[in-house]
Amino acid sequence: MSAGRFITLEGIEGAGKSTSLEFIQRQLRSVGIPHLVTREPGGTDLGEALREILLHRNRTGICVDSELLLMFAARAQHLDERIRPALEDGSWVVCDRFTDATYAYQGGGRGVPDERIRILENWVQGELRPDLTLLFDIPVDQGLARAGKRSAPDRFEREQQEFFERVRRHYLAAAACEPSRIRVIDGALTPDQVQDRIRVILQEFLP
Ligand code: TMP
Repeated sequence: MSAGRFITLEGIEGAGKSTSLEFIQRQLRSVGIPHLVTREPGGTDLGEALREILLHRNRTGICVDSELLLMFAARAQHLDERIRPALEDGSWVVCDRFTDATYAYQGGGRGVPDERIRILENWVQGELRPDLTLLFDIPVDQGLARAGKRSAPDRFEREQQEFFERVRRHYLAAAACEPSRIRVIDGALTPDQVQDRIRVILQEFLP
C-alpha cells in the first residue's frame, strides 16, 4: 500500500479554512480515499488540553517561548499518536493548521526568528513535511470581521490588526518561497469559486 498524502490548511482567522475542510473531506470520501481529518493545536487528548491552555482568552502571560514550545509539544504528540500512523497505513491526513502556522504566528506575529522554529521543526518532524498546503488568503479586516461574527475572541483573536498583518505577510512570503507546495487560494472568492480552485488542485494529487 502506498503512503498517504499529508495536506494542511492555513490562513488567518476568517479566511475560510473550516468550510473548505468539509469540502475536501467530501471530495476524498467521494473517491474512496481513507483519510484522517484533524487539527492543530489539538488532535490528541494531550493536544486538545494544550489547545485549551493556548487559546483560552483569560490565559494571559504565556511568554513567547512557552507558546512556541507548547505548539511543538502538541505537534510531537499528534505526529506520534495520529499523523504518522495514519500516513504509514496509507491514509491521507488533512490537518487544519500545522507548522506553517508556527512560522506565521510565532515567527511573523510574535517575532521568533525562523531559524529557531526550524530547529524545533527538524527535531519534532524529522523529514516529514506536508505534501500540499492550501493557504487561504484574505485581507485582515475582512477575515477578522468574519471571525468576529462566529464566537467570542480567543487569545489569538484578541490580538491587534497589525499582528495579523504580520501573520498574513509571513504566510504569503512562505508561499512565494515554496509555490509548488503552498497554493494560495483567494478567501474572498465565492464559496463555489473556492471549491473549484480546490477541486483543480486536488486533481493533481488524486491517484
Ligand atoms: P484555529 O485553528 O481555530 O483557527 O485556532 C488556532 C489558533 O492557534 C490560531 O489563532 C492560530 C494559532 N496557532 C499558532 O499560533 N501556532 C501554531 O503553530 C498553530 C498550529 C496555531
